[in-house]
Formats: sequence, C-alpha cells, structure tokens
Amino acid sequence: MSEKFDTLKEIREESLQGGGPKRVQSQHDKGKLTARERIQLLLDDGSFEEIGSLVLHRSNLFGLDKMKFYGDGVVTGYGTLNGRLTYVFAQDFTVLGGSLAEAHAEKICRIMDLAMENGAPVIGLNDSGGARIQEGVVSLGGYADIFYRNTQASGVIPQLSAIMGPCAGGAVYSPALTDFIMMVENTSYMFVTGPNVVKTVTHEEVTSEELGGASAHASKSGVTHLTYPNEVACIEGIKTMLSYMPQNCEEQAPALAYTPGDEKRPALNNIVPDNSNQPYDMREVISEVVDEGTFAEIHKDFAENIVVGFARIGGRSIGVVANQPAFLAGVLDIKSSQKGARFVRFCDSFNIPLLVFEDVPGFLPGTDQEWNAIITNGAKLLYAFSEATVPRITVITRKAYGGAYDVMNSKHIGADMNYACPSAEIAVMGAKGAAEIIFKKEISSADDPEAKLAEKEAEYAENFANPYRAAARGYVDEVILPEQTREKLIKAFKMLENKAVKLPRKKHGNIPL
Ligand code: HXC
Repeated sequence: MSEKFDTLKEIREESLQGGGPKRVQSQHDKGKLTARERIQLLLDDGSFEEIGSLVLHRSNLFGLDKMKFYGDGVVTGYGTLNGRLTYVFAQDFTVLGGSLAEAHAEKICRIMDLAMENGAPVIGLNDSGGARIQEGVVSLGGYADIFYRNTQASGVIPQLSAIMGPCAGGAVYSPALTDFIMMVENTSYMFVTGPNVVKTVTHEEVTSEELGGASAHASKSGVTHLTYPNEVACIEGIKTMLSYMPQNCEEQAPALAYTPGDEKRPALNNIVPDNSNQPYDMREVISEVVDEGTFAEIHKDFAENIVVGFARIGGRSIGVVANQPAFLAGVLDIKSSQKGARFVRFCDSFNIPLLVFEDVPGFLPGTDQEWNAIITNGAKLLYAFSEATVPRITVITRKAYGGAYDVMNSKHIGADMNYACPSAEIAVMGAKGAAEIIFKKEISSADDPEAKLAEKEAEYAENFANPYRAAARGYVDEVILPEQTREKLIKAFKMLENKAVKLPRKKHGNIPL
C-alpha cells in the first residue's frame, strides 16, 4: 500500500508545481502572483479545498501529447472567506498561458454548478491568454458553457471577476456577464481585439495599456468597476465587496452589531451651500450619514456626475446612489444613467436596500446625448428604480428638477420614504428658465425686460424653489433638518426591513437596452 500512497503524494506534489519553477519565476518577475498564491490570500487560512487537481487535457495535437499539466491551467475549489462559503477558480498563467480549453472549462463549470446549487458566490481570478489555440473549437465551446452559466447564475449568486493578467478575445465576456469586474493597474488588460488587430483594421497605434488597461476601463469604458495598484489590494477589495453582499438572492446581507447612540450630525447643516448654483461634494454628505468609514465607492472614475457604492447604516448593508453636484452639476446623462441603473439592479437582485441622495438639475441637453440615445439610457435608470422591490429611501438635498425628479427614486415610482431638506427645490425647471418661458410676452413687452425677468424669476422661485409644495401633496414624506438625516434613515430602514412586494407575474421584464 505504501507504494500507492507514495504515488499519490508524488502526483499531488507535481500538481502543485503549475508550469514549473521557471515560469513561476517569470510570473513573479512581472509583479504577478501565481494562481495558488492568490487563492491563499483570498480565502481564510487553511480553508481551501481543491477540486479537480488531477484533471488533464485531452487533446493530442500540436505537441500537447507530449505535455502533462495536472489541473489543466486552472485551480478550482471552495473554502471560506470571512467564515462564509465561497467558490473560486484561478487561472494559472504558468500552464500554457492559463489558456482555456476543454478540461479547463469543465472545471470552471463544475465550480459554478456547485455554487448555484449551494447558494454561494463565485470568484473568478482571471489570468489567461484566451482560447487554447491548439484545441480549437472545444475551447470556444468551453467558453460558451461558462457564459451560459454566468447568465443562469446572474441574480442568483454574486459573481465577481478579478482580472490579474491578460483577458482578450471572447474571454472578456465571462467577466462582463458577472456582477463586478476588478482590475490590477499595469498588469491586467481586457479587449475584444488587441493592438495588432486594431492597427490593421483602423490604423490606430495604441498600446495594450491604453487600449484595455485598468485606467482605460475605469474611466473611459466603465467596463471595470474597481481598480487596484497591486494584486494584494485587489484581493482585499474582493473581501470588502463580499462583506456587503448576501450569499445568494434568498438571503439578507450580514448585518454588523449596532449600538444606538447620538445620531445627530450637525456637520450636515453646513455642507449644502446657500447659493444653489454652488457645487459641493456629495461624498461628504454620504460619509456623514452612513456608519463611519463604511462607504465603499464603486465605478469611481466613470460618470462622476453620479456616485454609487455600498455602505452600512445602523450596521445594515445598503446601496447608495447619489447625484454629484461637484461634477457637471450632478446632471443625468447617458453614462451616469447606465452606471446608476446597473448598480440599482444589483442591489435589488440581492436584497440590498437603496438610499438615494438627490441634487439634480435635470438631463444633459445636446445632440451628442440625443443621438446617442439619452432617451433609451435615461429610461434604464427609470426602469431600474421602478422595478426595485427592496426598501428604497430618497433624501432631496437640493435640486430635484424635471424628469430627473421622477427618475431619482421618486415616491411615484415606488420609493418607500422620501425626505427633503429645507434647501430642496422641486420643480419642472430652474426659476430663470421657467420665468423666461411662461412670462415671455410680459417680459418682452415690459419697459425694463431685465427687471421684469428678475421679478418673475423671484416669483417662480418663491413658489417652487422649496420642498413644501411637494410635502403638501405627500410626494415628500417629511422635510427634515440636514442634521437629522442619519437618525431618520436608521429608523426608516428599520421600519422597512420586512418589506415584501412582488412584481406582477411575468417571465422577465424588457428593460430598455
Ligand atoms: C495556447 C498560449 C496561449 C493560447 C499563451 N500561450 N496564450 N498557449 N493558447 N491562447 C502560451 C505561450 O505559448 C507561452 O507558452 C505561454 O503561454 C506564455 O505566453 P507568452 O507569450 O510567453 O507570455 P507573454 O509574453 O506574457 O504574452 C501573453 C499573451 C500572449 C499576450 C497572452 O501569449 C498572446 O498574445 N497569446 C495569444 C492570445 C490570443 O490570441 N488568444 C486567443 C484569443 S481569441 P510557453 O510554453 O512558451 O511558456 C479567444 C477566443 C475566445 O480567446 C472566444 C470565446 C467566445
């Protein structure tokens, strides 16, 4: 027997070597960790259980018959992360460039199937040269098997993708189908076609980093939600993100202990400027209102006119969506609508209540916006809020103008509680624009049109640049002092914690895409 045991030990030992010491060294030289090192950092100490470590590739073509790599270039298994069951796959770039082939894909699918059946998140640590060229169509089939599972799992279990190396060709579509993408600066990139193809087709000269590096996708395309300076920070980021999420759509996110105390925040009285055209940073409001240090912003460098992220209030996990007056006056446009809608839908899928801070002058005008479909894209945010059944609360800090008033989680589209500060202005449009339209004749025929405009502007502002008309109709539930915001929200979210609303029976809705 002992000979058989020794054989197993030898095979196991070999399976841990990946592509061998030279390739491991080369990985380290690039500032990258190996698949196993990444898993070790991700999961609780000693909790990782590998599945399929002895799987081998099946192709014999192009020299593959002379190769034997246990695990076929991907390490898969499960363990605990902060004590909670988590499934993980980590592509091993030291084995055939982490390329994806038949057996490699089957291992990932197995992990995804187990995660679905057992209701726990899947973390993908991607580092791969794409489809294994020697294996041809089975590699493409393997990708499609994964894409299919990503889609089936969407909204059932959280799926997070960390990009820690190349991710090119159709391979980008598995991460794109997951809930959040994280990238490591300078060592990861994603694109459908690389710089060489780009040069041939469009004659553009561009580097991999410029085309699909972390900063390009964080600020230009919005493909990545989070970026990190190195892999260790990225792995910590995964842990932080998961801490706000439930294990699956049937559960609530874990709550932290909360001891009620003095919840007044006088600093909130001084953040919104008296002059309604003056910008301020909505993040300051968010940080004062939520539990200290818990705001984890997502998509920070993309569509900065809206701010989204997870936080805690009274220990409970919430999703925050906020207009940002410090950027483009907080206007809604195509990108901010897409960003907001995607986040709202994630939170709603996973029972995470929504908190909206509103200071929005309206939708951005212009041919660029109209021709690129602000109508369809703005409708995404409207649709996302309207279909969300989680507890939803809005705080109007200042402007709530035009269609944007309706869109930003108004009572009319199903918000549960809406508060406004005394500085709120809730109307069809700003006073000057309104006066120019409805008093056009009176102004033009006046002896002093300027003075008339000012008079009419003041009249309109007096009537509408406040929260009281909306409050009189019940569109705003309470007008509150800014310093009261946190205590009001803690109580209201507690009051709403058992909210149960079902959407009409349907196969699925048809969100404007
Ligand atoms: C097989 C691959 C491979 C691949 C890399 N390798 N990519 N083997 N299939 N797709 C192998 C290399 O031969 C090499 O083996 C080792 O991995 C490391 O690769 P290097 O080139 O030495 O590394 P580096 O210089 O860091 O470059 C990495 C790379 C480059 C940029 C990823 O390898 C590359 O461009 N690979 C091809 C990418 C590609 O075109 N993939 C197909 C995309 S299409 P040795 O033995 O020397 O260590 C696609 C379709 C999916 O993915 C469709 C889904 C719907």
